[in-house]
Amino acid sequence: MLQIRNCCPTFIFFLLVAMPITFAHNQKTKVLLPEQLKAFVSENMKQKLAAFDEIVDSLSQDKLHHASEIAEHYFGQGIHGNELSQYMPDGMKRFNNELIAASSHFSRIAKTGDTLAAMHSFKAISNTCITCHSTYEFGANP
Ligand code: HEC
Repeated sequence: MLQIRNCCPTFIFFLLVAMPITFAHNQKTKVLLPEQLKAFVSENMKQKLAAFDEIVDSLSQDKLHHASEIAEHYFGQGIHGNELSQYMPDGMKRFNNELIAASSHFSRIAKTGDTLAAMHSFKAISNTCITCHSTYEFGANP
């Protein structure tokens, strides 16, 4: 029925997330974080990536309830931690809020059981991953 069923989720993930992270390195705003916080965010991001992959996989198998729960759990609070927010530029906070809003919207749609609508709303999540990554990177530590 849907084309996504015939695609490898990992391939989709590569197109949406890994490729932009790898190749979009010019002219980004550097965000300075203490080393320890950097390690925390890095770990948090890797979890988001695994969650992203799991959601694509769940969508391709009509496991919408699971997709909804994963989104809520891993994206519902954006990049975790109050400590981090003092280092985030306003634009980055905005992207973070967009991720939270997109995640809550996706979770709601997925719970309705409409796969196509859920896939469509998932695009808003992937879009925040891509826009934040193409705008910000971590720089040297303070
Ligand atoms: C609010 C901004 C923001 C959002 C939203 C965001 N990220 Fe990130 N992410 C970053 C920054 C900044 C880095 C560090 C990139 C660098 O220094 O080159 C990063 C790095 C990563 C990394 C590399 C981690 C490592 O250390 O190996 C992964 C994987 C990742 N993000 C996945 C995701 C996924 C998946 C999403 C969406 C669900 C997402 N991110 C949303 C800001 C964001």
